[in-house]
Amino acid sequence: MLDPNPRVSPFDVNMAVDAGFQHIIPYTNVGMDEVLGLTQDAIFSRGPTGVKATGLFIGGRDPWLALDMVAEARKSMVPPFEMAVFADPSGGFTTAAGLVAVVAEQMQEAGLKGGLDGTKVAIFGGTGPVGLVSAVLAADAGAEVVVVSHRSAEAAAKHTAVLKERYGIDTIPGDGSSESSRAKILKDVHAVMSTAKAGIQILSNKELCAAPELLVAADVNAVPPLGLEGVGVSDRGKILEGTVRGARGVGALAVGDVKYRTQNRLFQDMLAGDGTLDLEFRAAMKRAMELLG
Ligand SMILES: NC(=O)c1ccc[n+]([C@@H]2O[C@H](COP(=O)([O-])OP(=O)(O)OC[C@H]3O[C@@H](n4cnc5c(N)ncnc54)[C@H](OP(=O)(O)O)[C@@H]3O)[C@@H](O)[C@H]2O)c1
Repeated sequence: MLDPNPRVSPFDVNMAVDAGFQHIIPYTNVGMDEVLGLTQDAIFSRGPTGVKATGLFIGGRDPWLALDMVAEARKSMVPPFEMAVFADPSGGFTTAAGLVAVVAEQMQEAGLKGGLDGTKVAIFGGTGPVGLVSAVLAADAGAEVVVVSHRSAEAAAKHTAVLKERYGIDTIPGDGSSESSRAKILKDVHAVMSTAKAGIQILSNKELCAAPELLVAADVNAVPPLGLEGVGVSDRGKILEGTVRGARGVGALAVGDVKYRTQNRLFQDMLAGDGTLDLEFRAAMKRAMELLG
C-alpha cells in the first residue's frame, strides 16, 4: 500500500485482509518520484507468475494525485512483470461509486427509467474527493451536474475547471454560501447529493421541502448532525415527508453498504486478474452497478 500521507487507513488494511490478501505492507509519505522504484522492486522480486499474487493499493486524500500515481506505477512495469493497481484515496472512489449507483437506483424507483440520464444534480460539499468523483460519475451517467462550494461559486469553479481539463466534462460551479444562493440551485435539480465534511448539516428540511423538482436526496455523512435534515442514516428510498414530489431519501449507511461491497470486490478482482488491471473510480462504478443488479 502506497500512501502520500503519513498513515495508511486501517479501513483499507482491513478491507484488503478480508478480501484475501495475506500480507499488507504500508509505505507512507510516498512521493511521486518514489513510485517507479517501489513498483519495480515489488514486481521483479516475484517472477512473472508470482507477481500476479501481488497488488498495489494507492490511498491518500487527493484523487488526482492517486490517479497520477496509478499511471506512474503502470508505466514503471515491464511486461510480463505486471501487477494490479487499485486506487481509493480517502475511500472516495468507492464511496462516490456507491453514492451515484444508489441515487441512480432511486431515480429509477421514482419512475425515471434512465436513472440519472437527463437529470440535473447538485452536489453540496462537491469540492472534496468524494464530491468531485461523484460529479464525474454523475456526468458519465448523463446528468447535468452542479458542483457546490459553501464558500462561493468562484471556489467551486477552481474545481470544475480541473474536471474540464482532466475529463472534458462541463459541470456548473454553484454558490452554497447562503440560503438564497442555495435556493437558486435547488429550484430545478432532480437530485441532491451531500458529500460535505462529516458532522455538518448542509441543507435544512425546509430547504429540501422547497425544492420543486426534487426526486432524490442522498447524504454520505454518518456523523451527527447528518448532512440533509430529515434523511435518516439508513434510509434507502424512504419518502421525505413534505417534499413537493415525494423525494426519496438515501442515507450514509445505505451508501456505505454498497461502498463496502464494491471495495471488497475490487480487492478480489486484483487477486483474480492477470496483473494488467488498473482499478479506479470508473471500475468502482461498474462494480457498484453490478452489485445493485
Ligand atoms: N458513507 C460512506 O461510506 C462514506 C465513506 C467515506 C467518506 N464518507 C463521508 O463522505 C463525506 C465526504 O468526504 P470527503 O473526504 O470528500 O470530505 P471533505 O474533503 O472532508 O469535505 C468535503 C467538502 O466539504 C466542504 N465543507 C467543509 N466545511 C464545510 C462547512 N462548514 N459547511 C459546508 N461545507 C463544508 C468543503 O468544500 P467547500 O469548502 O468548497 O464548501 C470540502 O471540500 C464525509 O462526510 C465523509 O465522512 C462517507
